[in-house]
Amino acid sequence: MNALPKTMTAKTITARAFVPRKDDTRTLRDAFGRFATGVTIVTCDSDDGPICITANSFSSLSLDPPLVMWAGDRNSRRFPYFHKARHFSVHVLSAGQSELCFGCSRNAHALREIDHDRCENGTPLLPDCLARFECEQHAYYDAGDHVIVVGEVLRASMTDGDALAFYAGKYGQFARH
Ligand SMILES: Cc1cc2nc3c(=O)[nH]c(=O)nc-3n(C[C@H](O)[C@H](O)[C@H](O)COP(=O)(O)O)c2cc1C
Repeated sequence: MNALPKTMTAKTITARAFVPRKDDTRTLRDAFGRFATGVTIVTCDSDDGPICITANSFSSLSLDPPLVMWAGDRNSRRFPYFHKARHFSVHVLSAGQSELCFGCSRNAHALREIDHDRCENGTPLLPDCLARFECEQHAYYDAGDHVIVVGEVLRASMTDGDALAFYAGKYGQFARH
C-alpha cells in the first residue's frame, strides 16, 4: 500500500486529540470553532418588544416541508422569549453587517434602537440581509445545554452579496466569486 502523502502525515502528527471534559469546555469549544459558519440574527416579538439574538448554529434542514433550525442556549437570559414565541425570523448577515451582529449579541433588546419592519404576525424583520426566513415554530428538541428550534419557513427572501463569516472566534467574509 502506498504511504500517505507527506502533507497528510504532517497533519496527523500535529493534530491534538482529546476527550471532552466537564472541567475544560474551552478545548471543545475551540474544536467546534474550527467549523466555519455564516452568522445569523434570529428575531421574535414579545411582551417586552422586539427580541434578537446572534446565532451561528443556524442550518437549513428540509426542502419539503421547508424547515430550518437553530440552537438556543437554554441558560441564555433571552432564550425564554424564543421558546415562547410562535413565530421567528432568521436573517443571514452580509459581510457589511458586523455591527448588527455585535449589537444583537450584546443586547436582546437592541432592535429598540435599530430600524426594522414587522411582518403581519409582529415578528421583527431586518433589511439588507443576504437571506431572510420568516418561520413558524415547528418543533423543539432538547439537546444538552441547548434546545434545537425547528421552524417551518412561511416566506423567504434573498439578495446577492458576500457573507459575514465566523471562524475560530474571529469574523471574516465569504466572497461569492
Ligand atoms: C458569532 C456568534 C454566534 C452565536 N451563536 C449563538 C447560538 O447559535 N445560539 C445561542 O444561544 N447563542 C449564540 N450566541 C450568543 C448570543 O448571541 C448572545 O451573545 C447570548 O445569548 C448572550 O447571553 P444572554 O442571552 O444571557 O444575554 C452567539 C454569539 C456570537 C457572537
